[in-house]
Amino acid sequence: MTESCHIPETLLAALRDARHVCVLTGAGVSAESGVPTFREAQDGLWADHDPLQLATPEGFLSDPELVWSWYRWRRELVAEVEPNPAHLGLAELAELVPRLTLVTQNVDRLHQRAGSKDVIEFHGNLFADICFDEGRVVECDADDPAPTCPSCGALVRPGVVWFGEAIPEDALDFAFAAASDCDVFLSVGTSSLVYPAAGLVDIARQNGAVTIEINPEPGRSNFDFVLENKAGTAIPGLVSSLSS
Ligand code: OAD
Repeated sequence: MTESCHIPETLLAALRDARHVCVLTGAGVSAESGVPTFREAQDGLWADHDPLQLATPEGFLSDPELVWSWYRWRRELVAEVEPNPAHLGLAELAELVPRLTLVTQNVDRLHQRAGSKDVIEFHGNLFADICFDEGRVVECDADDPAPTCPSCGALVRPGVVWFGEAIPEDALDFAFAAASDCDVFLSVGTSSLVYPAAGLVDIARQNGAVTIEINPEPGRSNFDFVLENKAGTAIPGLVSSLSS
């Protein structure tokens, strides 16, 4: 049986009246494409991988080959999957409201592949190669188990934001501005545990936005509306209700 989703009329009214919708997405949006989430007990990435080893600068410097082998595995996994109805629906939603800002914690670029424009990559891009010392994108040998920067010789690292690192300044500024300005804030497929992304909803609420969560297992209880559905059901449901 196809999963269906009840969308309250007051939620739709808020979206219909919205001048600016800010959407924050997390790993749950890509789950139905076959990309593992992080914190789910059974098959989340952090259930059997150590984030301190794989997602910190210290872990990387202690064993760059191990960290690179993990990120290359993730690159291959993501390259083989397709955007799902949630990614496609969010790209469509942008056409149905006057303004939509999409902030994602995902590094998989599936939103861009689904057609979303100007995506704010809060935690970076899995496919970028960055010089560890200079912080800029470089070209490097994809077969080298621990590639080095062609100009300065420092290690090259994946272009993702690791624990303890700052969010890219532009991404932070744009996301905070959008959260402050929006009249609807939509959180999709995130456990809302990692800051500063998890704090965006509070900024939106303080500025009067209606807040909505889409998550089959919602964590925080302080959203105005919670749709306990998979993103691949709820987002197309929202889009079709708004278009009719
Ligand atoms: P998490 O793994 O913490 O949370 C994923 C959320 O998606 C959970 O709340 C699930 O209930 C929900 N979920 C699962 N399937 C879903 C579906 N089909 N539709 C909608 N929701 C679904 O992932 P994030 O919140 O993205 O950072 O994690 C935030 C950050 O922590 C990540 O960007 C990553 C991670 O460690 C870094 O690596 C720095």
